[in-house]
Amino acid sequence: MLNLNTQFELIRQSATVAMADRILALKASGKSIVGLQVGDPDFGTHPAIAESAFQAMQAGQTHYGPSTGTLELRKAIAAKLQRDEGVDYDPASEILVTHGGIHAYYTAMQSILNPGDEVLIPDPSWATHSNMAIMLRGNVIRIPAPAENGFIPHFDSWLKALTPKTRVIVLNYPSNPTGAFPSRDYLQKLQDFAKEHNLWIVSDEVYGSLYYEGKPTSAADFEGAKERTILVNSLSKSYAMTGWRVGFLAAPARVIQNALKAGQNSITCVAPFIQKAAAFALTDPKIQDVTAEMRAAYGRRRELVIRLSHELESDRVKIIPPQGAFYFFLDLRELKMSSVEMCEKILDEEGVGLVPGSAFGEQGEGFIRMTIAASEEDVEAGFRKIVKWAERQ
Ligand SMILES: Cc1ncc(COP(=O)(O)O)c(C=O)c1O
Repeated sequence: MLNLNTQFELIRQSATVAMADRILALKASGKSIVGLQVGDPDFGTHPAIAESAFQAMQAGQTHYGPSTGTLELRKAIAAKLQRDEGVDYDPASEILVTHGGIHAYYTAMQSILNPGDEVLIPDPSWATHSNMAIMLRGNVIRIPAPAENGFIPHFDSWLKALTPKTRVIVLNYPSNPTGAFPSRDYLQKLQDFAKEHNLWIVSDEVYGSLYYEGKPTSAADFEGAKERTILVNSLSKSYAMTGWRVGFLAAPARVIQNALKAGQNSITCVAPFIQKAAAFALTDPKIQDVTAEMRAAYGRRRELVIRLSHELESDRVKIIPPQGAFYFFLDLRELKMSSVEMCEKILDEEGVGLVPGSAFGEQGEGFIRMTIAASEEDVEAGFRKIVKWAERQ
């Protein structure tokens, strides 16, 4: 037998994908399913964005473009980062256009990681953060982010995990799957910690525009933070553009130079007509209003779940209202059942598609992720069914 890359033996097949396949099969068999498993906005991309891409296609922007991304888009990204996050990046040297946020993360980690480097990642968190680090032969150390602490790691957990091999901290705020984000003070302490121990902070801020009561602080928005901080972002969630596959990295120039090599040698470039539409989406004032409207709609759905939870008064389905993103990480630990089993049963018995919390790490066991990137009707029907099911156990 020919050898395979043994690193892949360390990566579990994504439970999110497995669940999605099961749901598709059930739907194909004619069963009606309330789909609350997706991480994809239920809003369409605004037609003016599509029109911008179409015009660029008609104007012949259908060939290779610069691997860094067009200067027009890099300038639009710099303007967005200044407008929304209050951070300054040089479009000429500190920004790289990528194939979505996932590719931004990939190029970031490829640029800085050496085999055996230790990477600290909160638990629970989006599985790709760990999987990618493992694929690149990093050693992932999970930092518990307990529900009892609002899904934010106790600060001393970072200290306890530190070894001479620690190189990177990966953050994702607002978080998938919990929607949590820490205070500015907490992030300041983490920056001080990173500085003292010479660590990179890779901050995935793809949900940065989706927040409810307060606005999250970007990891780069601190004195001296830019030299050790790498921002990962995309248009997927904030502009309802998941299928367009466009994102970006903002980082010190020497990281961008490595990331460019990683991009050039994996995807060549992001399609120029997509870049044209992305630049339009990031800068057009009307499109920013549309983003704000989507945020308001998610906010209404969030309120709906909070209201329902009060009304239904279930001890078995507890909510911790998300501060951002578009998920509830429901606490069903009371049932003492594995989260995979719960999701399978809820799907089979109530026809609601969800994601098991264990897909996000050990700390996610006993939780299930429910999206609010779905219609109010589906969110209400789905949540009621989950509670009904849990009360029957
Ligand atoms: C935390 C997080 N980062 C990145 C991504 C990927 O985003 P993109 O579509 O921009 O690749 C996702 C998608 O679910 C996500 O949840």
